[in-house]
Amino acid sequence: MARKADVVNFDCSKYQTDFSMLRRFRKTGLQVDPAELSSFLDSLPDDLWDPATKQICFTHTPLDYPSKAPLHFEGCGSLTYQWSFEPYNNKGALKEREVKLHESQFTEFNKEFSGTYIEEVYKIVSAAFPVRRMRFMRLDPKKCMSYHTDNDLRIHYAVRTDPACQMVIDSEVAHMPSDGEGYFCDTKYFHTAFNGTHKLKRVHLVFGVLGDFDELCNARGI
Ligand SMILES: [Fe+2]
Repeated sequence: MARKADVVNFDCSKYQTDFSMLRRFRKTGLQVDPAELSSFLDSLPDDLWDPATKQICFTHTPLDYPSKAPLHFEGCGSLTYQWSFEPYNNKGALKEREVKLHESQFTEFNKEFSGTYIEEVYKIVSAAFPVRRMRFMRLDPKKCMSYHTDNDLRIHYAVRTDPACQMVIDSEVAHMPSDGEGYFCDTKYFHTAFNGTHKLKRVHLVFGVLGDFDELCNARGI
């Protein structure tokens, strides 16, 4: 445990998660270049971020419907509910999307990002796993996610993080470092994540993955 006196010179190496001890998190072995990923993140203008969800999605569906534009917002947030700054209707229920979507429909890489490093990362991960949505997800300082389950699995690449940023799945707790490793997460179990820093905006690149966690782990030998 970090004592108060440790906080000024926090030594990250002391607080590494031992992933070999965990069942809900696995290293994929799909390495990308963390410096290239970080540079790509820096290159993006602020208006690409969906203000309500703090996400950017790099894949989209082949569907055509009036509220679809812009493409990089289609896959942000819930695929059932319409997250916004006023997510509830006048009956107090969550507003639903005009067109409800499913992870499996996100089969198209957004051509606006062709030729960038994010396309290379997409090719690496999609060659090994049945991936669909591919998002930058930001978690601001002193915030946490709701405790929830997903219908699909996730692979996380940490881009901006700190040991005070942790993810909890089914009572297992892990800090995923920005080491270029893709961390496969069994998000069909209840999970959350928190950013316990004061200033850092945590950013992960997150893939939605179709299928069964154990079967996919066995197939890759991880
Ligand atoms: Fe989730």
